[in-house]
Amino acid sequence: MLRLSAPDGLRKLVKTGFSLSDLTTWRVGGRAKTLVAPLCEESLVLSVKWLSSEADDFYVLGGGSNTLVADGEIDTPVLLTTGMSKVEICRSGSDIFVKCGAGACLREIFMLAVREGWSGLEFAAGMPGTIGGALVGNAGTPLGDISSIVESVRVVRSGGVVENLKGNDIEWGYRKSGLMDGDAGVISMAVLKLRESAKDIVASNVMAAVKNRRSQPIGAKTAGCVFKNPPGDSAGRLLDVSGCKGLLVGGARVSPLHANFIENHAMSSAEDILNLAMTCRQKVRDMFGINLQFEIKAVGFHDALIKR
Ligand code: EPU
Repeated sequence: MLRLSAPDGLRKLVKTGFSLSDLTTWRVGGRAKTLVAPLCEESLVLSVKWLSSEADDFYVLGGGSNTLVADGEIDTPVLLTTGMSKVEICRSGSDIFVKCGAGACLREIFMLAVREGWSGLEFAAGMPGTIGGALVGNAGTPLGDISSIVESVRVVRSGGVVENLKGNDIEWGYRKSGLMDGDAGVISMAVLKLRESAKDIVASNVMAAVKNRRSQPIGAKTAGCVFKNPPGDSAGRLLDVSGCKGLLVGGARVSPLHANFIENHAMSSAEDILNLAMTCRQKVRDMFGINLQFEIKAVGFHDALIKR
Protein backbone atom coordinates (compact mmCIF):
# COMPACT_ATOMS: atom_id res chain seq x y z
CA MET A 1 0.00 0.00 0.00
CA LEU A 2 1.24 3.50 -0.79
CA ARG A 3 1.78 6.00 2.04
CA LEU A 4 -1.48 7.84 2.64
CA SER A 5 -1.57 11.58 2.30
CA ALA A 6 -3.30 13.24 5.24
CA PRO A 7 -6.00 15.90 4.92
CA ASP A 8 -5.16 19.42 6.16
CA GLY A 9 -6.76 19.17 9.61
CA LEU A 10 -4.76 16.05 10.46
CA ARG A 11 -1.33 16.69 9.04
CA LYS A 12 0.32 17.48 12.40
CA LEU A 13 -1.09 14.30 13.93
CA VAL A 14 0.21 11.94 11.26
CA LYS A 15 3.63 10.29 11.35
CA THR A 16 5.28 8.12 8.73
CA GLY A 17 7.80 5.37 9.45
CA PHE A 18 6.95 5.47 13.15
CA SER A 19 8.55 2.73 15.27
CA LEU A 20 5.89 0.71 17.07
CA SER A 21 8.12 -1.41 19.32
CA ASP A 22 8.19 1.20 22.10
CA LEU A 23 4.41 1.42 21.96
CA THR A 24 3.93 -2.23 22.96
CA THR A 25 4.74 -4.04 26.19
CA TRP A 26 6.53 -6.83 24.28
CA ARG A 27 8.85 -4.16 22.86
CA VAL A 28 9.02 -5.83 19.44
CA GLY A 29 7.77 -4.91 15.99
CA GLY A 30 8.58 -2.70 13.05
CA ARG A 31 7.60 0.72 11.78
CA ALA A 32 4.15 1.85 10.71
CA LYS A 33 4.05 3.39 7.25
CA THR A 34 1.23 5.59 8.54
CA LEU A 35 0.33 6.41 12.13
CA VAL A 36 -2.27 8.94 13.22
CA ALA A 37 -2.55 10.02 16.84
CA PRO A 38 -5.73 12.03 17.51
CA LEU A 39 -5.82 14.13 20.70
CA CYS A 40 -9.57 14.72 21.02
CA GLU A 41 -12.87 13.48 19.63
CA GLU A 42 -12.83 16.02 16.82
CA SER A 43 -9.50 14.79 15.46
CA LEU A 44 -10.60 11.17 16.05
CA VAL A 45 -13.62 11.77 13.81
CA LEU A 46 -11.36 13.20 11.09
CA SER A 47 -8.93 10.27 11.48
CA VAL A 48 -11.64 7.61 11.25
CA LYS A 49 -13.23 9.29 8.22
CA TRP A 50 -9.86 9.55 6.51
CA LEU A 51 -8.65 6.01 7.24
CA SER A 52 -11.96 4.37 6.42
CA SER A 53 -12.10 6.10 3.05
CA GLU A 54 -8.41 5.65 2.10
CA ALA A 55 -7.41 2.26 3.54
CA ASP A 56 -8.92 -1.24 3.38
CA ASP A 57 -8.35 -1.64 7.10
CA PHE A 58 -6.61 0.08 10.01
CA TYR A 59 -5.46 -1.01 13.45
CA VAL A 60 -6.44 0.80 16.65
CA LEU A 61 -3.54 0.75 19.11
CA GLY A 62 -3.99 1.69 22.76
CA GLY A 63 -1.45 0.81 25.43
CA GLY A 64 0.01 -2.00 23.31
CA SER A 65 -0.32 -4.50 26.16
CA ASN A 66 -2.18 -7.13 24.15
CA THR A 67 -0.69 -6.60 20.71
CA LEU A 68 2.01 -8.34 18.68
CA VAL A 69 3.36 -6.06 15.95
CA ALA A 70 5.14 -7.84 13.09
CA ASP A 71 8.78 -7.12 12.25
CA GLY A 72 9.57 -4.85 9.30
CA GLU A 73 7.39 -2.24 7.68
CA ILE A 74 3.72 -2.32 8.66
CA ASP A 75 1.37 -1.53 5.79
CA THR A 76 -1.78 -1.41 7.89
CA PRO A 77 -2.30 2.19 9.08
CA VAL A 78 -2.28 2.57 12.88
CA LEU A 79 -4.60 4.83 14.86
CA LEU A 80 -2.98 5.49 18.24
CA THR A 81 -5.44 6.44 20.98
CA THR A 82 -3.11 7.29 23.87
CA GLY A 83 -3.35 11.04 23.22
CA MET A 84 -7.07 10.96 24.11
CA SER A 85 -6.46 10.49 27.80
CA LYS A 86 -8.56 13.10 29.60
CA VAL A 87 -10.26 11.95 32.83
CA GLU A 88 -13.10 13.78 34.63
CA ILE A 89 -14.91 12.78 37.80
CA CYS A 90 -18.61 13.46 38.53
CA ARG A 91 -20.44 12.39 41.68
CA SER A 92 -24.08 11.59 42.29
CA GLY A 93 -24.72 10.48 45.87
CA SER A 94 -22.42 7.51 46.47
CA ASP A 95 -21.99 6.88 42.74
CA ILE A 96 -18.76 8.04 41.15
CA PHE A 97 -18.79 8.52 37.38
CA VAL A 98 -15.34 8.42 35.78
CA LYS A 99 -15.51 9.95 32.31
CA CYS A 100 -12.35 8.93 30.47
CA GLY A 101 -10.91 9.19 27.00
CA ALA A 102 -10.22 5.88 25.24
CA GLY A 103 -6.49 6.42 25.72
CA ALA A 104 -6.67 7.00 29.49
CA CYS A 105 -4.38 4.69 31.41
CA LEU A 106 -6.28 1.93 33.24
CA ARG A 107 -3.60 1.73 35.94
CA GLU A 108 -3.95 5.46 36.74
CA ILE A 109 -7.71 5.21 37.12
CA PHE A 110 -7.27 2.07 39.24
CA MET A 111 -4.77 3.92 41.50
CA LEU A 112 -7.11 6.90 41.84
CA ALA A 113 -9.98 4.59 42.85
CA VAL A 114 -7.80 2.84 45.46
CA ARG A 115 -6.61 6.16 46.92
CA GLU A 116 -10.14 7.53 47.14
CA GLY A 117 -11.76 4.30 48.38
CA TRP A 118 -13.98 3.82 45.30
CA SER A 119 -15.04 0.25 44.63
CA GLY A 120 -15.55 -1.54 41.28
CA LEU A 121 -12.10 -1.64 39.71
CA GLU A 122 -10.27 -3.83 42.25
CA PHE A 123 -10.06 -6.73 39.77
CA ALA A 124 -7.81 -4.52 37.58
CA ALA A 125 -4.87 -4.63 40.04
CA GLY A 126 -1.70 -4.97 37.97
CA MET A 127 -3.51 -4.63 34.63
CA PRO A 128 -1.71 -2.57 32.00
CA GLY A 129 -3.22 -0.82 29.00
CA THR A 130 -5.80 1.81 28.21
CA ILE A 131 -9.51 2.05 28.94
CA GLY A 132 -10.29 1.58 25.23
CA GLY A 133 -8.30 -1.65 25.04
CA ALA A 134 -9.84 -2.88 28.30
CA LEU A 135 -13.36 -2.26 26.96
CA VAL A 136 -12.82 -3.88 23.56
CA GLY A 137 -11.43 -7.08 25.10
CA ASN A 138 -13.62 -6.90 28.24
CA ALA A 139 -10.50 -7.06 30.39
CA GLY A 140 -10.91 -9.02 33.57
CA THR A 141 -9.93 -11.83 35.85
CA PRO A 142 -12.00 -14.47 37.65
CA LEU A 143 -12.74 -11.70 40.20
CA GLY A 144 -14.57 -9.48 37.75
CA ASP A 145 -14.39 -7.68 34.45
CA ILE A 146 -14.80 -4.18 33.13
CA SER A 147 -18.24 -4.80 31.60
CA SER A 148 -19.80 -4.67 35.07
CA ILE A 149 -18.88 -1.00 35.59
CA VAL A 150 -19.55 0.44 32.13
CA GLU A 151 -22.21 3.14 32.18
CA SER A 152 -21.77 4.25 28.56
CA VAL A 153 -19.34 4.27 25.63
CA ARG A 154 -19.01 6.77 22.79
CA VAL A 155 -17.83 5.39 19.47
CA VAL A 156 -16.93 6.94 16.13
CA ARG A 157 -18.22 4.86 13.23
CA SER A 158 -16.54 4.56 9.86
CA GLY A 159 -18.33 7.52 8.24
CA GLY A 160 -17.30 9.69 11.20
CA VAL A 161 -20.71 9.46 12.91
CA VAL A 162 -20.49 9.62 16.72
CA GLU A 163 -22.79 7.32 18.68
CA ASN A 164 -23.51 6.92 22.40
CA LEU A 165 -24.00 3.34 23.58
CA LYS A 166 -25.35 2.33 26.98
CA GLY A 167 -23.20 -0.22 28.81
CA ASN A 168 -26.19 -2.58 29.06
CA ASP A 169 -26.82 -2.46 25.32
CA ILE A 170 -23.31 -3.68 24.48
CA GLU A 171 -22.73 -7.43 24.12
CA TRP A 172 -20.14 -8.66 26.60
CA GLY A 173 -18.44 -12.05 26.88
CA TYR A 174 -15.26 -13.65 28.18
CA ARG A 175 -12.46 -11.50 26.73
CA LYS A 176 -14.75 -10.14 24.03
CA SER A 177 -17.33 -7.45 23.41
CA GLY A 178 -19.55 -6.06 20.69
CA LEU A 179 -17.00 -3.24 20.48
CA MET A 180 -14.61 -5.68 18.84
CA ASP A 181 -16.65 -6.18 15.66
CA GLY A 182 -15.30 -4.69 12.45
CA ASP A 183 -18.18 -2.20 12.11
CA ALA A 184 -18.33 -1.31 15.83
CA GLY A 185 -16.36 1.90 15.33
CA VAL A 186 -13.50 3.32 17.38
CA ILE A 187 -14.03 4.16 21.04
CA SER A 188 -13.74 7.87 21.79
CA MET A 189 -14.56 7.85 25.49
CA ALA A 190 -16.40 5.94 28.18
CA VAL A 191 -18.09 6.54 31.51
CA LEU A 192 -17.31 4.03 34.25
CA LYS A 193 -19.50 3.82 37.34
CA LEU A 194 -17.74 3.17 40.66
CA ARG A 195 -19.21 3.27 44.20
CA GLU A 196 -17.99 5.13 47.24
CA SER A 197 -16.74 2.55 49.73
CA ALA A 198 -14.25 2.32 52.60
CA LYS A 199 -10.54 2.52 51.80
CA ASP A 200 -9.75 -0.59 53.86
CA ILE A 201 -12.41 -2.67 52.06
CA VAL A 202 -11.11 -1.58 48.66
CA ALA A 203 -7.53 -2.30 49.79
CA SER A 204 -8.43 -5.81 50.96
CA ASN A 205 -10.21 -6.56 47.63
CA VAL A 206 -7.08 -5.35 45.84
CA MET A 207 -4.92 -7.66 47.97
CA ALA A 208 -7.06 -10.63 46.84
CA ALA A 209 -6.55 -9.63 43.19
CA VAL A 210 -2.80 -9.16 43.68
CA LYS A 211 -2.54 -12.62 45.29
CA ASN A 212 -3.91 -14.17 42.08
CA ARG A 213 -1.09 -12.52 40.13
CA ARG A 214 1.76 -13.91 42.21
CA SER A 215 2.31 -16.76 39.73
CA GLN A 216 2.82 -14.28 36.86
CA PRO A 217 6.12 -12.90 35.50
CA ILE A 218 5.70 -9.32 36.72
CA GLY A 219 8.38 -7.01 35.29
CA ALA A 220 9.16 -9.21 32.26
CA LYS A 221 8.36 -7.90 28.77
CA THR A 222 5.13 -9.79 28.03
CA ALA A 223 1.64 -9.11 26.71
CA GLY A 224 -0.20 -10.84 29.54
CA CYS A 225 -1.82 -14.16 28.71
CA VAL A 226 -1.27 -15.18 25.09
CA PHE A 227 -4.25 -17.54 24.85
CA LYS A 228 -7.80 -17.40 26.19
CA ASN A 229 -8.86 -20.01 28.68
CA PRO A 230 -10.97 -22.68 26.95
CA PRO A 231 -14.36 -23.32 28.59
CA GLY A 232 -13.90 -25.03 31.94
CA ASP A 233 -10.11 -25.18 31.83
CA SER A 234 -7.03 -23.01 32.06
CA ALA A 235 -4.78 -22.38 29.08
CA GLY A 236 -1.86 -21.95 31.53
CA ARG A 237 -2.44 -25.40 33.01
CA LEU A 238 -2.80 -27.07 29.57
CA LEU A 239 0.38 -25.37 28.29
CA ASP A 240 2.24 -26.32 31.45
CA VAL A 241 1.24 -30.00 31.33
CA SER A 242 2.16 -30.03 27.61
CA GLY A 243 5.73 -29.10 28.57
CA CYS A 244 5.81 -25.49 27.37
CA LYS A 245 7.33 -23.74 30.43
CA GLY A 246 10.82 -22.45 29.65
CA LEU A 247 10.64 -23.28 25.88
CA LEU A 248 12.75 -20.93 23.76
CA VAL A 249 12.55 -19.75 20.16
CA GLY A 250 15.25 -17.19 19.37
CA GLY A 251 14.98 -14.50 22.05
CA ALA A 252 11.42 -15.49 23.08
CA ARG A 253 10.78 -17.69 26.10
CA VAL A 254 7.72 -19.21 27.71
CA SER A 255 7.73 -17.93 31.26
CA PRO A 256 9.08 -20.52 33.70
CA LEU A 257 6.49 -19.15 36.18
CA HIS A 258 3.29 -19.20 34.12
CA ALA A 259 3.02 -21.12 30.84
CA ASN A 260 0.50 -18.72 29.25
CA PHE A 261 3.01 -15.84 29.22
CA ILE A 262 5.68 -15.42 26.52
CA GLU A 263 8.57 -13.16 27.44
CA ASN A 264 10.77 -11.07 25.20
CA HIS A 265 13.67 -12.62 27.01
CA ALA A 266 16.68 -11.60 24.92
CA MET A 267 16.08 -9.15 22.06
CA SER A 268 13.30 -11.27 20.64
CA SER A 269 11.75 -10.58 17.25
CA ALA A 270 8.01 -10.67 16.67
CA GLU A 271 8.55 -13.74 14.53
CA ASP A 272 10.26 -15.54 17.46
CA ILE A 273 7.24 -14.80 19.64
CA LEU A 274 4.74 -15.92 17.02
CA ASN A 275 6.70 -19.11 16.25
CA LEU A 276 6.93 -19.93 19.94
CA ALA A 277 3.20 -19.33 20.41
CA MET A 278 2.45 -21.62 17.44
CA THR A 279 4.71 -24.33 18.88
CA CYS A 280 2.94 -24.11 22.24
CA ARG A 281 -0.46 -24.22 20.58
CA GLN A 282 0.54 -27.33 18.64
CA LYS A 283 1.78 -29.05 21.82
CA VAL A 284 -1.60 -28.53 23.50
CA ARG A 285 -3.37 -29.71 20.35
CA ASP A 286 -1.21 -32.87 20.29
CA MET A 287 -1.68 -33.68 23.95
CA PHE A 288 -5.30 -32.61 24.58
CA GLY A 289 -6.88 -32.14 21.13
CA ILE A 290 -7.77 -28.55 22.15
CA ASN A 291 -7.23 -25.59 19.80
CA LEU A 292 -6.31 -22.68 22.03
CA GLN A 293 -7.62 -19.32 20.82
CA PHE A 294 -5.35 -16.28 20.82
CA GLU A 295 -6.15 -13.57 23.33
CA ILE A 296 -3.50 -11.28 21.85
CA LYS A 297 -4.11 -9.30 18.70
CA ALA A 298 -1.62 -9.31 15.85
CA VAL A 299 -0.93 -6.51 13.41
CA GLY A 300 1.10 -6.68 10.22
CA PHE A 301 1.04 -10.48 9.86
CA HIS A 302 -0.71 -12.39 7.12
CA ASP A 303 -4.09 -13.32 8.60
CA ALA A 304 -3.63 -17.01 7.89
CA LEU A 305 -0.57 -17.17 10.11
CA ILE A 306 -2.25 -16.02 13.30
CA LYS A 307 -5.55 -17.80 12.67
CA ARG A 308 -3.98 -21.24 12.27
N1 EPU B 1 -1.65 -23.15 36.03
C1 EPU B 1 -0.70 -24.14 35.87
N2 EPU B 1 0.45 -23.83 35.22
C2 EPU B 1 0.69 -22.59 34.72
C3 EPU B 1 -0.28 -21.58 34.89
C4 EPU B 1 -1.45 -21.88 35.55
O1 EPU B 1 -0.89 -25.26 36.29
O2 EPU B 1 1.75 -22.39 34.12
C5 EPU B 1 -2.88 -23.47 36.75
C6 EPU B 1 -2.95 -22.72 38.08
O3 EPU B 1 -2.29 -23.41 39.10
C7 EPU B 1 -4.44 -22.63 38.31
C8 EPU B 1 -5.03 -22.52 36.90
O4 EPU B 1 -4.01 -23.00 36.01
O5 EPU B 1 -4.93 -23.83 38.87
C9 EPU B 1 -5.39 -21.08 36.54
O6 EPU B 1 -4.21 -20.28 36.58
P1 EPU B 1 -4.19 -18.77 37.07
O7 EPU B 1 -4.86 -18.65 38.39
O8 EPU B 1 -2.81 -18.30 36.90
O9 EPU B 1 -5.17 -18.01 36.10
P2 EPU B 1 -5.23 -17.97 34.52
O10 EPU B 1 -6.54 -18.56 34.11
O11 EPU B 1 -4.01 -18.54 33.89
C10 EPU B 1 -6.45 -15.72 34.40
C11 EPU B 1 -6.39 -14.59 33.40
C12 EPU B 1 -5.27 -13.61 33.76
C13 EPU B 1 -5.50 -13.10 35.17
C14 EPU B 1 -5.56 -14.28 36.14
C15 EPU B 1 -5.89 -13.79 37.53
C16 EPU B 1 -7.01 -15.51 31.20
C17 EPU B 1 -6.50 -16.04 29.92
N3 EPU B 1 -6.08 -15.16 32.07
O12 EPU B 1 -5.23 -16.42 34.26
O13 EPU B 1 -5.39 -12.53 32.89
O14 EPU B 1 -4.47 -12.20 35.56
O15 EPU B 1 -6.60 -15.20 35.73
O16 EPU B 1 -6.12 -14.82 38.39
O17 EPU B 1 -8.22 -15.37 31.39
C18 EPU B 1 -4.63 -11.78 30.77
O18 EPU B 1 -5.77 -12.03 30.38
O19 EPU B 1 -3.76 -11.26 30.04
C19 EPU B 1 -4.31 -12.11 32.14
C20 EPU B 1 -3.08 -12.02 32.60
